[in-house]
Amino acid sequence: MAAFSTNPDVLSSIAALSSATWAYAGLSAAFELGIVRALDAPASAEELGSRLDLEPTLVADLLGVLIPLGAVERRGDRYALTAEFEPFRSGSMAKVMRAGVRSDHLQTADALRRARDGSLAPGWAHRDPDLLVAQGETAGLFRLAAKHVLPSLPGLRERLEAPGARFLDVGAGVGVLSTELCLVYPEVSAACLEPNGTARGIGRERAIEHGLEDRIEFLSIGVEELETSAGYDLALIPQPFLDPASFDAGARRVLRALRPGGWLLVLALDVPENDELTAASQRVRARLWGGGAVGADELIDRLDRIGYACSRAHPPVGAYRMFAAQRGTGVGDERAAVQTRAA
Ligand SMILES: C[S@@+](CC[C@H](N)C(=O)[O-])C[C@H]1O[C@@H](n2cnc3c(N)ncnc32)[C@H](O)[C@@H]1O
Repeated sequence: MAAFSTNPDVLSSIAALSSATWAYAGLSAAFELGIVRALDAPASAEELGSRLDLEPTLVADLLGVLIPLGAVERRGDRYALTAEFEPFRSGSMAKVMRAGVRSDHLQTADALRRARDGSLAPGWAHRDPDLLVAQGETAGLFRLAAKHVLPSLPGLRERLEAPGARFLDVGAGVGVLSTELCLVYPEVSAACLEPNGTARGIGRERAIEHGLEDRIEFLSIGVEELETSAGYDLALIPQPFLDPASFDAGARRVLRALRPGGWLLVLALDVPENDELTAASQRVRARLWGGGAVGADELIDRLDRIGYACSRAHPPVGAYRMFAAQRGTGVGDERAAVQTRAA
């Protein structure tokens, strides 16, 4: 009887979520099984099945998910990637998309497991190397921001290109952001603050693989313990991963650790208030990561109060939004010093 008294819109909305979950599973399987990569030329499900040693009916049904997404089109009995999706077949764009899909699956499966055993609580405590790498590699295109967005911040390009340039990577995880930045700016060396030992170990290996072990160091401390005399030109804080008290204390320390005129970037999850369901899912994600979602105005207000100058929000890119704020060089700097001392 209860089902009859339930609003049918609720049921159809939940059915749509269930359907989207299975479609997402199909997309991830098409990536993980190498089906997307194998579509370097139009091919039938039988041809792909024999190349990849897969059941052709499975290949056909997985590709069937990619058709309504606009990623694949039918040409007779063959399948072809659309021009729009071709960049995601191989290379760095494909790697980032595969990492995002994998990371979503691993994290949501872990949330279900922890909800069932009663251990679900806010905070990033993952130790699964596959999950840590997948989450880290979602930032694998940071070099594009490093090349094209960071130079729009006054003075930052000159700083990053100068000998002795220093980057502070707070909550560095497996060190993808530092690697990307160091590859774009050869003078930069990076300090990665990361309390999670598994992530630090993977990050050190990653630095060695890229020949950056002399330029990227990992420190096993939280940002609350940051040594403020170091002098950085650029710092980055991934807000959703830091609990609110650590974020505020950390942002104060970072302000003191920046060289005058240096910049802080804050990465946050975008919360589109005109899309209630997406906003709610972003809040769940940010809560499980530990920091909770913070609106753009509130974040800028918090940075201003701490004493940063020129705080600004960049337009959202996908699920994320970047904020930038500067350590002032003159009067603002004095104000910052007074405020951070008082904190
Ligand atoms: C998941 S990473 C972000 C992804 C990262 N950019 C990468 O390349 O892997 C965020 C990290 O913040 C770390 N973290 C949480 N609280 C912190 C704190 N107070 N100080 C420094 N790091 C913290 C977590 O351990 C987590 O590894």
